[in-house]
Amino acid sequence: MKPFDRTQGKRVFSGIQPSGDVHIGNYLGAIKNWAESQDEYDNIFCIVDLHAITVKQDPKILKKKIREIAGLLLACGIDPKKSSLFVQSHLAAHTELSWILNCFTPMGWLEKMTQFKEKSEGQACLSTGRERASVGLFDYPILMAADILLYETDIVPVGEDQSQHVELARDIAKRFNVIFDSNIFKIPEVKIKKETARIMGLQNPEKKMSKSSELAGDSILLLDSPDAIREKIMKAKTDSFNEVNFDKERAGIYNLLVIYESFSEMGRGDIETKYEGKGYAEFKKDLAELVIEKLEPIQEKYNKLPESEIDKILQDGAEKIRPMAEKKIKEVKEVIGLG
Ligand code: TYM
Repeated sequence: MKPFDRTQGKRVFSGIQPSGDVHIGNYLGAIKNWAESQDEYDNIFCIVDLHAITVKQDPKILKKKIREIAGLLLACGIDPKKSSLFVQSHLAAHTELSWILNCFTPMGWLEKMTQFKEKSEGQACLSTGRERASVGLFDYPILMAADILLYETDIVPVGEDQSQHVELARDIAKRFNVIFDSNIFKIPEVKIKKETARIMGLQNPEKKMSKSSELAGDSILLLDSPDAIREKIMKAKTDSFNEVNFDKERAGIYNLLVIYESFSEMGRGDIETKYEGKGYAEFKKDLAELVIEKLEPIQEKYNKLPESEIDKILQDGAEKIRPMAEKKIKEVKEVIGLG
């Protein structure tokens, strides 16, 4: 196997959790962009199973989900010839660097993370959320920083909800470099596609579409059937205005229009002209057919992928980047006087 070679300039690293079901927010906010810019960069994409266990998972389901998400990424166009795709827990360097970074990051920095506040509140039914949330959930952004910093990453393409975590990774890298008077960590840049940075829920367009949403019909899943997609879109919350235009004040219709815009790749003006004088029902019907049409080839490709092929790609992906991760850990240990 060819070792990993930075032949194409800048390096991209990003990740996705194998918990819950992949939805069009993940696709439009992240996966589609990863696939589309593969030729521009050296790419590493990671299925972050260690992040997934920061909240309770059923072991049998988690194992299946890891393969499912890998299959979906491949079906969405991640090409193992252009990108390394691997599972986080297959490379021990991630947890090793995470521990080291723990020891050099102030607690106060983690306390500011909005996602921890939201997720720990979600566990409030058990007692007070913060007390019941795992240390892992609190520490989650440090593992994410380790993921990014291990590979001399230049660019981290994510949806908006992850930008605070990437910002933290930058701060951790800078602080570490200063403490040890070295340039050991490259400072990564976040890359967010503005238009699809935050796809909202269909039932609650005030909140982002999420793998953990409990509202029925709030998320369109990549593996949803055509009927399920039609039903979810037709029932999506809008308003009584009934005019199809990009008005941020009308969150429901605005979100549906953003989804239409990114799947159709039409300009906003053209979309508004197309639906001038037509109501929400007609627009929703068209949107449903468009989403079905765009997801169909992904589902078809996914259904044809043999499990053995997915496993092989994941194994090769890990082996290709292992030397790079191990080299970085060795350098870090050297700098801090370990071993
Ligand atoms: P995760 O699994 O929650 O989401 C994967 C990617 O999907 C984006 N995303 C969205 N984009 C637009 N609209 C939405 N409604 C929406 N929901 C999710 C996320 O921003 C993300 O880009 N912590 C990360 C995974 C991770 C990672 C990393 C990412 C671990 N290590 C290192 C980058 C670099 C997460 O939980 O993503």
